[in-house]
Amino acid sequence: DARPRVLSGIQPTADSFHLGNYLGAVRNWVSLQETHDAFYCVVDLHAITAGHDPKMLRARTRNGVAQLLGLGLDPERCTLFVQSHVPEHAQLAWIMNCLTGMGEASRMTQFKDKSSKQGAERATVGLFTYPILQAADILLYQADAVPVGEDQRQHLELTRDLAQRFNSTFGKTFTLPAPYIPKAAAKITDLQEPTAKMSKSASTPNGLIELMEDPKRIAKKIRSAVTDTGRDIVFDQENKPGVANLLTILAAFTDRSVEEIVPGYEGKGYGDLKKDVADAVIAFAEPMQQRVKLFQDDPAQLDKLLSTGAEKARSVASVTLARAYDRVGF
Ligand code: ADP
Ligand code: NA
Repeated sequence: DARPRVLSGIQPTADSFHLGNYLGAVRNWVSLQETHDAFYCVVDLHAITAGHDPKMLRARTRNGVAQLLGLGLDPERCTLFVQSHVPEHAQLAWIMNCLTGMGEASRMTQFKDKSSKQGAERATVGLFTYPILQAADILLYQADAVPVGEDQRQHLELTRDLAQRFNSTFGKTFTLPAPYIPKAAAKITDLQEPTAKMSKSASTPNGLIELMEDPKRIAKKIRSAVTDTGRDIVFDQENKPGVANLLTILAAFTDRSVEEIVPGYEGKGYGDLKKDVADAVIAFAEPMQQRVKLFQDDPAQLDKLLSTGAEKARSVASVTLARAYDRVGF
């Protein structure tokens, strides 16, 4: 495959992916499989850095894969796998750990944020080295590009630094990955707190739309989304972040721009907009949920897809790891 290679991963840390995960990341993965040699993984090694329940992790990993399939990833068009099925990730991560300075790792702002939430003493060493495992994920596949959000830029910088350091110390082994900032990625905010990003760690469940939840609940959440006391439907992220978020969601699901949508609401109210948003989200979520269910109801088929995916991933990862081992002196 001569097309540029991309690698991206998502953590199985919730029962359902949410609207932000789809519109900000996975939707773009679906289009990249047409133009790129795309590798996508459910990163279960990353998911144990902050404590977990084994049964739940296993279920969420499998459901995560089923959801990615339901969202449009096609194992004929991309390599879809589970990180722990490819032991080379942990093996390369060890080498990268030994190339990373303590000071360098300590400067990662995501660790600072997450560890201060967990309590500095309780945060694990795994959480601390998380970005180094992420570097290994990317470098194993010699990825040319990595679709990243703003929050992941610093980690990609570290990945590039480590690749460069390894190459100059031991000989050229790794491709330096470039950030790929997708045009179409939308940032979705919390329905109840529209200045904060929609996140699985939402402060109230009503702020979060999970793709797998009951369509009736989705509609209810959208109807009770926080807007503002005005009446006009205009796109103004600063003064009307709730309305702007609803317009962003509607634009994404109807393949139109916000500019195309806004004039249609002249003389209409927030209720009309909310109804249209709910209809659009449900028109997407319902058939998606049915596709996910087909995969969930056929565990043998899912197993087969997963073992094929792991095999495809390993055929690349094992070559890279063997070269790295050789260069290092193993
Ligand atoms: P969460 O913030 O819910 O923990 P993750 O960090 O697991 O989500 O994000 C997985 C992917 O989804 C990342 O690529 C991230 O950039 C994207 N993403 C998460 N939340 C949003 C959002 N509200 N808007 C757009 N993209 C998002
Ligand atoms: Na995040």
